[in-house]
Amino acid sequence: MFAFLFVVMLGLCHCSKDGNQTYLGIPRLFGPSEALVGDIVIFKCQMPKHQKNEFILLQLFKKGNNSKWLGESTSLSGEAGAFNLVIRPSHDGSLECVARAQNNSNIQPTASISHYLKVVEPVNGSQIVVRSGPVEFFEGDKLELLCKLTAGNYVSYKWLLNGRLIAQSPGLLPSGNHLLLNRTTSEDSGSYVCVATNHFKDAVFTSRSSDVEIIVKDVVSAPDISFTVLKEESQNYSAAVTCQSSAGTPPVTFTLYNRTELVGSMTSQDRGVAFKLPLFLGQYLGELRCEANNGGPVAHSQWLPLEVVSVGGPVTMHYDYDVGENFAVVGLRLYCRVAKGSHPRYRWFQNKTLLRDRGSFYYVANQPPEQSILLLSVGRSSAGTYRCEVSDSFDNTTAISSRKRYLDKEVLNRLPVPVVATVFGCFTALILLVSVCCGLGVVYRRRQYGERSLLGLEMERTVAYEGELDLSEYEEDADVLRRTTGGDEFDRVRASGIRGLCRRMAPDRGAQEDVGGRTI
Ligand SMILES: *[C@@H]1O[C@H](CO)[C@@H](O)[C@H](O)[C@H]1NC(C)=O
Ligand SMILES: *[C@@H]1O[C@H](CO)[C@@H](O)[C@H](O)[C@H]1NC(C)=O
Ligand SMILES: *[C@@H]1O[C@H](CO)[C@@H](O)[C@H](O)[C@H]1NC(C)=O
Ligand SMILES: *[C@@H]1O[C@H](CO)[C@@H](O)[C@H](O)[C@H]1NC(C)=O
Ligand SMILES: *[C@@H]1O[C@H](CO)[C@@H](O)[C@H](O)[C@H]1NC(C)=O
Ligand SMILES: *[C@@H]1O[C@H](CO)[C@@H](O)[C@H](O)[C@H]1NC(C)=O
Repeated sequence: MFAFLFVVMLGLCHCSKDGNQTYLGIPRLFGPSEALVGDIVIFKCQMPKHQKNEFILLQLFKKGNNSKWLGESTSLSGEAGAFNLVIRPSHDGSLECVARAQNNSNIQPTASISHYLKVVEPVNGSQIVVRSGPVEFFEGDKLELLCKLTAGNYVSYKWLLNGRLIAQSPGLLPSGNHLLLNRTTSEDSGSYVCVATNHFKDAVFTSRSSDVEIIVKDVVSAPDISFTVLKEESQNYSAAVTCQSSAGTPPVTFTLYNRTELVGSMTSQDRGVAFKLPLFLGQYLGELRCEANNGGPVAHSQWLPLEVVSVGGPVTMHYDYDVGENFAVVGLRLYCRVAKGSHPRYRWFQNKTLLRDRGSFYYVANQPPEQSILLLSVGRSSAGTYRCEVSDSFDNTTAISSRKRYLDKEVLNRLPVPVVATVFGCFTALILLVSVCCGLGVVYRRRQYGERSLLGLEMERTVAYEGELDLSEYEEDADVLRRTTGGDEFDRVRASGIRGLCRRMAPDRGAQEDVGGRTI
């Protein structure tokens, strides 16, 4: 309805204009909608037919810029004006044809409706500019690349790293001619290329930049410091102090310091070096520390005290065990320790056979330098004489052996003499205590009352007699045990019940003793 009213009003306006001046009518502009830079194209501007007697000047303009025409033509008798254009990039956009009467200023000029011309300029001369700065830097820094062209419009860009397309991902934004990596890692290192593309009709134009090599270096990690002892031909010793970093782009320079001065410096291509220093056994040679540097932040190791003590003193072996059904020992842990020595090497023997890391019934768990543990499952093949031997890891001529122990299922399940003795001792003490109490009681009563009933005496006697019965029972039991153990010194699991009883009576004893474990 409004549209209709608007048209009517417009019509009225035209009529009033026609009253005092001639109306030219609206020209129409024809031409291609797409063109390539350098092409010669023809645009035509057509006037409505009825304008017969006027010379009409037709001009082609970029819309919004009527100061400079792109083409000009005159038209008489309503014929179409033609403009030949050599396409330039600036022609891209909306064009319009303006018609004006040449010698009649009373007639208002009119413009055609705009015509959109897309001008395509083939891409050319693409080149990567590293906006973020140097091409070699440390992880965590920002990388910003720009793809610059010498020519081209309506361009789409692709970014390649080592020949593979970079997809959009969090922290990485390939938007148009701009590639931004906010926090780089060494995996972002490589050869970057940008590929710019545009097309005109079926033709595709491509410009590939030359490679830009980006190196993102890993910051060197805090090195580990350790040393091994070497025995020289001359019977002298030396320490090979190793500094090793797990991360960091080589080359890495390692510097070894003691508390006061620099001891040595070396550069490594594989993040690790070894310094050789003279060593004197049993002498404290101060503390050492490594420093690692690959151009970025410098990393330090812990302080390492350099002291080597030869093994010495007694080698002790003790064990504890696991109990299965029927209170039988099923698993055994043998512990081996040496009194001193900073670099001990532990070796276990069954009969005369060296037990390596793992076998059908055993497993060796070394916890150097403190101890070594031999785990056994108790069975037929585990029967034998066991011992452990400790030597310096750098000199096996220093071997010290523990005492030998024969262990099998029967031995392990026997009751040890100290337990029997304790049990026996506990009961004897108990009975003595009861007897003394009774005796004192009797004396006390006799003194207090002078006279006493015969019945009371009888009862006290019965108590004492029962005590004696208990004693003989345990004596008998202990004798049997003594015979079976034959004086050997081994624990028996079944004793734990009896021992528990004793512990209730004498808790101190229980606290000292490690249940089910003993030193051999
Ligand atoms: C229009 O004016 C120009 C000079 O201003 C003259 O040369 C030309 O002949 C005139 N054309 C007509 C059609 O009057
Ligand atoms: C990168 O960091 C800037 C600020 O430093 C932030 O504006 C931008 O969104 C970040 N870009 C990405 C892709 O995380
Ligand atoms: C071995 O050590 C002694 C001092 O302990 C030293 O006098 C000797 O020169 C050393 N020998 C070698 C070959 O380094
Ligand atoms: C550091 O090493 C030097 C020789 O390399 C030695 O003379 C000095 O005593 C050492 N300092 C300490 C604190 O160990
Ligand atoms: C170790 O020797 C004992 C006898 O001393 C023997 O019974 C046992 O079978 C031997 N063990 C092995 C694995 O040879
Ligand atoms: C000491 O170790 C070396 C090599 O590890 C070995 O060849 C040598 O037989 C060992 N000597 C002794 C006594 O175990």
